[in-house]
Amino acid sequence: MKRLLVLALLALPIPAFGQANVQSVDQGRALFNDPKLSGNGQLSCATCHPMNGHTDNKTYVVAEVVADGDPKGRSTPTLWGAGIRQAEWSWAGNIPSLETNIRGIIVNRMKGAEPSKETLGALAAYVKSLPNGPAPFLTADGVPRDTAPADVKRGYALFSGKAGCMTCHVPASYDKKGPEDVGSGGPFKVPSLRNVSKTGPYFHDGRFKTLDEAVTFMWDFYKKKTDSKDTLSDADKRDLVAFLRAL
Ligand code: HEC
Ligand code: HEC
Repeated sequence: MKRLLVLALLALPIPAFGQANVQSVDQGRALFNDPKLSGNGQLSCATCHPMNGHTDNKTYVVAEVVADGDPKGRSTPTLWGAGIRQAEWSWAGNIPSLETNIRGIIVNRMKGAEPSKETLGALAAYVKSLPNGPAPFLTADGVPRDTAPADVKRGYALFSGKAGCMTCHVPASYDKKGPEDVGSGGPFKVPSLRNVSKTGPYFHDGRFKTLDEAVTFMWDFYKKKTDSKDTLSDADKRDLVAFLRAL
């Protein structure tokens, strides 16, 4: 009897907390789709992050679409998997809190009114609740399963080996805390590579259309930086891209 009571008491706070979180995720989802957050009443978060927080694959200065690769432009990142990221927020990779980042977007990008703490909390809870897209060949730790195709496994071996990619893109989210200067115009966050086959154009300014271009740039940078005597063949690069497509 006593044991039952203890169990009942232990069980109590858990559903209570779960309930509050479900409520703010629901509230956040509604706000995320609400154009009233913007100054002109026409722009919601979902305009640029459609399909439950994904990316519209466009490059923006404030709320205006610009050409991919415009040095002032920033490409829209996906918010899928935002709850498991290691990097700090924004392409600059220097905003430690999600609420601060979202406040900046509402006030500066959407020209909306100062949001309440409750609004920011609900939006952050929603964003953090978004799962990664399906990755059937990955384990929970984000590495290829035994059942993954051979090119995906070879790509992972290169990624974690001589290609040096994993010194920055660390599983399971394939990003890392702290910006890095890879010679792309200044220090930028090491972006998550989960869902990366669907997030182009690539880099902070959307300069690369394809993963092949991004991989070639990254390898050339790493080889030069570490003075590596290794080389990657075209077949190696294809395997790296096959691995990235499985993330
Ligand atoms: C006009 C298009 C647009 C709208 C509207 C928009 N975003 Fe974004 N979002 C972007 C772009 C572009 C970036 C990258 C900006 C940067 O990092 O400098 C971004 C970045 C983010 C990030 C950082 C992601 C990361 O991994 O660092 C979050 C979180 C985010 N947006 C959430 C939201 C929320 C929540 C709203 C609504 C309140 C919203 N966005 C509205 C285009 C938009
Ligand atoms: C020194 C750290 C570092 C290493 C090593 C590194 N990267 Fe990156 N990677 C970055 C940074 C920083 C960016 C973002 C640069 C920018 O936005 O201007 C990036 C961007 C990318 C992107 C584009 C992602 C997107 O969403 O736009 C891909 C793909 C990528 N890296 C793959 C690789 C591969 C493959 C390797 C190994 C050959 C590698 N990286 C090695 C730091 C690194």
